[in-house]
Amino acid sequence: MSTLPRVDLLDAAAFDGGQPHETFAWLRDHDPVHWHDEADGPGFWAVTRYDDVKAVGRDAETFSSAYGIMIPGSGGQLGGGAPRMMITMDPPDHTGFRQLVVPEFLPNAVREMVPQISELATQIVDGVIERGECDLVTDVAGLMPSYVIAEMLGIPHADGVALYDLTETIHSTRDPDDPDAGMRAVMEMLQYAHGVWEDRRATPRDDLSTTLAHATVDGEPLSELDFGMWFLLLVDAGGDTTRNLVATGMHALLEHPDQLAFVCDDLDSRLNPMVEELLRWVSPVVYMRRTALRPAKIGDTHIAEGDKVVMYYGSANRDPRAFDAPDVFDVTRRPNDHVAFGGGGPHFCLGARLGRAEVQALLREVLTRLDGLRLAGEPDWLASTFISGVRHLPVEFRPGTRSTG
Ligand code: HEM
Repeated sequence: MSTLPRVDLLDAAAFDGGQPHETFAWLRDHDPVHWHDEADGPGFWAVTRYDDVKAVGRDAETFSSAYGIMIPGSGGQLGGGAPRMMITMDPPDHTGFRQLVVPEFLPNAVREMVPQISELATQIVDGVIERGECDLVTDVAGLMPSYVIAEMLGIPHADGVALYDLTETIHSTRDPDDPDAGMRAVMEMLQYAHGVWEDRRATPRDDLSTTLAHATVDGEPLSELDFGMWFLLLVDAGGDTTRNLVATGMHALLEHPDQLAFVCDDLDSRLNPMVEELLRWVSPVVYMRRTALRPAKIGDTHIAEGDKVVMYYGSANRDPRAFDAPDVFDVTRRPNDHVAFGGGGPHFCLGARLGRAEVQALLREVLTRLDGLRLAGEPDWLASTFISGVRHLPVEFRPGTRSTG
């Protein structure tokens, strides 16, 4: 075994500039189920190979989500009093919760939304096109998921943007000068959800908020807190994932001008495979954690009951055991069975189709309308070990004209 490089997957600095692919490559080859120490916790297993990531994600009977999906925290259960949020529930409870919203995310439902999503993409690009410069993250990429989830929940676009800002505060590293900021943001989100809950309980409408406010699981109505948690999850899950895919994906394209030109030559046939390659390349969700409910084996490694097990999607997506020339950015890659939306278990991304539709529509507008698009400064990377992407990406282009009044 060659010498272990410094592996610190809990150090946000290791993710500044993208995911630590050299470390991942070493781990996949030499220690694919790696025991990782943790200063404030019991430590965890870092799973880095494609097949192992898929196997863990698909085995919810052994690997539970109910103890938390992020690394911090003990292997201990969240507790009976913890609010119920689908992403931290196991089957069969998870199944009933997920069924409540599945119809809104089915292929037909997403297909019906595509014209509206395309219109939003036009509006977003209209917002910057006359200026000839913008921040591709905050002025373009971040607006799409906020607007789309606002449409689905039946709230104003501006509120969707404000709620998304709250999720950013919730995820930010604790600021010693304002240690309660995260909790305040959660309370603000729940306060907003409270208003929507009261309104839809009294006056049902044709939106997802109404569906959830009147939903029952196993004959039991959802509580107001359950409703608030749904709100938080829906605003949160599609937000920085989609934003980072668009902005960080555009950064990758601008760094590979030959690939960009190739796609633009025939956008209709090349856009969708390009988005799949961006998903593999960027892997906006770095990891999801599970906790072993019983002793298990991953590859040759024995896992004890209660151990935390972490699936590194960005590593699985560069595993040469699953992809030819995985470190080559290739917009024509086929097949491209990446795990950017998860490995296919019960928690597989609910919004995968919706996210794809948002990103395809927005990138189509950006690539066809922002003429001569180029980087106008260095990208500012998100300091996070959980979500990968850029926080700011200054770009320039030839000013153009709006397509709507
Ligand atoms: C395009 C970028 C996106 C990426 C890369 C992404 C990625 C992921 C990943 C990796 C998971 C966890 C999968 C697992 O544990 O097996 C997940 C779960 C989830 N995603 Fe996405 N996502 C994206 C967009 C969206 C959108 C637009 C929505 C819509 C609101 C959404 C809603 C969800 C929800 C609700 C879950 C939890 C599902 C469950 O627990 O059953 N995602 N996503």
